[in-house]
Amino acid sequence: MKKITIAIDGHSSTGKSTLAKQLAKYLGYVYVDTGAMYRAVTYFAMQNNLISTTHFDVEKLKNELININLKFIFNADLGFGEIYLNDVNVENEIRKIEVSNLVSKIAEVSEVRSKLVEQQKEFGKDKAVVMDGRDIGTVVFPDAELKLFMTASAQIRAERRFQELKSKGDNVTFEEVYKNVVERDEIDSNRKDSPLIKAIDAIEIDNSHLNRNEQFEKVIKLVNERVKN
Ligand code: DC
Repeated sequence: MKKITIAIDGHSSTGKSTLAKQLAKYLGYVYVDTGAMYRAVTYFAMQNNLISTTHFDVEKLKNELININLKFIFNADLGFGEIYLNDVNVENEIRKIEVSNLVSKIAEVSEVRSKLVEQQKEFGKDKAVVMDGRDIGTVVFPDAELKLFMTASAQIRAERRFQELKSKGDNVTFEEVYKNVVERDEIDSNRKDSPLIKAIDAIEIDNSHLNRNEQFEKVIKLVNERVKN
């Protein structure tokens, strides 16, 4: 069977990573969560007092980029690669709302993007990869054989994310999660460098009213059409 590249882009909290993990497991492909990379850079900036809700020392961050080393290490129990920032597993820390509230500002910085995009291209150079993010089908792999663009209503996305955070013991309110989802989409879609847009050849999946299995069945059909020829 032909090995392909699967690019999954779309709005915040549309279940991109859930779908990407399902596909990678089913196909035996590598899964790369590019959002985790932007989140890890954000976490680094927070820890080094380069960014907060009231300030952002963007020049210092640019100088510090050389000291940021990111890698994914496969966790067999979880079935996917966890992200390490300078050899420390930060998979849990980067999912917190404090990081979500600042990550779009970090993702606007071109120098951050070019560093991460270079690494992402390297991860996918041998194909057999499922990568999710905001610019995968437009910038990272414009030649990907399958491009998906995922969306759902903001209300439904915020409800799903709220339940997920609550189940992890995070002390957030629904309003805070809703505001974050809407604000991130706004910044991600309007930034100058690599804004979140649907690639012309991407297939849109609105999963407002699809459950995980229905969505998976739909996407597997698209994958099968592409790996067979
Ligand atoms: O997928 P996520 O919600 O974990 O991504 C976090 C943020 O990172 C998202 O709001 C925008 C940014 N991002 C990006 O700009 N480009 C990507 N390829 C992936 C994420």
